Amino acid sequence: MKGNSFLTLLDYTPEQIEKLLDLSAQVKNEKKNGIFPLRLKNKNIVLIFEKTSTRTRCAFETAGYDEGANVTFLSNSQMGKKESLEDTAKVLGRFYDGIEFRGFKQETVEKLALYSGVPVWNGLTDMYHPTQVLADLLTIREHVKKPLSQTKFVFVGDARNNMGNSLMIGCAKMGMHFVALAPKELFPSEELVMKMKELCKKTGGTITLSEDVSSVEGADVIYTDVWVSMGEEDKFAERIKLLSPYKVDSAMMERTHNKNVKFMHCLPSFHDLETEVGKKVYEEYGLKEMEVSDEVFRSENSIVFDEAENRMHTIKAVMLATMTDILD
Ligand code: CP
Ligand code: NVA
Repeated sequence: MKGNSFLTLLDYTPEQIEKLLDLSAQVKNEKKNGIFPLRLKNKNIVLIFEKTSTRTRCAFETAGYDEGANVTFLSNSQMGKKESLEDTAKVLGRFYDGIEFRGFKQETVEKLALYSGVPVWNGLTDMYHPTQVLADLLTIREHVKKPLSQTKFVFVGDARNNMGNSLMIGCAKMGMHFVALAPKELFPSEELVMKMKELCKKTGGTITLSEDVSSVEGADVIYTDVWVSMGEEDKFAERIKLLSPYKVDSAMMERTHNKNVKFMHCLPSFHDLETEVGKKVYEEYGLKEMEVSDEVFRSENSIVFDEAENRMHTIKAVMLATMTDILD
């Protein structure tokens, strides 16, 4: 995998994803035991952020520092304003051994990879969020006591966006049973669904699209994401109307008839009024919570902070796999 970019899970085989998960578990264990092999010493990495972030930025920084890398955070470059993407990529490729990009267009990470000549990692675009899905798969492996191939995973909410797309791909690759529970207006694109159904013929997974909340029956994981993603801030009214019936609450968790069902969320989440956006939504629409109830978020079934921690270990694995020969 040395020299590869990590732009979407579509480019990775199930075997490669499995290897990345094994390496993530290994580096997590090393860190827990105070073992720091500094496998990225003398490597320079740059993190470009067009959109805001807590976990992704901090995961790349801490993972890089743990392995001895030098890290630059870049949020105010000339890229795309006074200098083309192509020229910026060529310059950064001379300075750095790896580039992380978070922003709007998937095309941007693709162009950075094309022109920089170094591994580029997608830290979230409008279309995909692949490093998040690796962390999610690792967390499921740790908490759901059955093989991934026997796991029923229900994504609830805005199923046509970066998280819905990437989780569907990740589940299909790993032979899981993926359900997108959403109003039909927010179903994933037919093209991606067809592609993933085709892939499932090889991996043994299944893909189901449903508007009916009873489809959570038997779920091992209920996963949701914000109703309004970064860059769509004008869509609150529309999404609240469409997605209110799909809020994850105790009643939905109970409908799974699985007392061990796990609740997952990529975070950040609107589960109380402790955020500026949450307060504004409350003032305008009267909602105290959005995609998940505070009760479920804080319940014993919720594994959201283990999931968040795993961002760091899985991102470390991605950097090691693509900048060194550890998996070759
Ligand atoms: N889940 C996630 O990507 O979090 P940040 O937006 O904080 O990076
Ligand atoms: N769908 C969310 C994910 C945040 C990690 C967004 O794009 O804002």
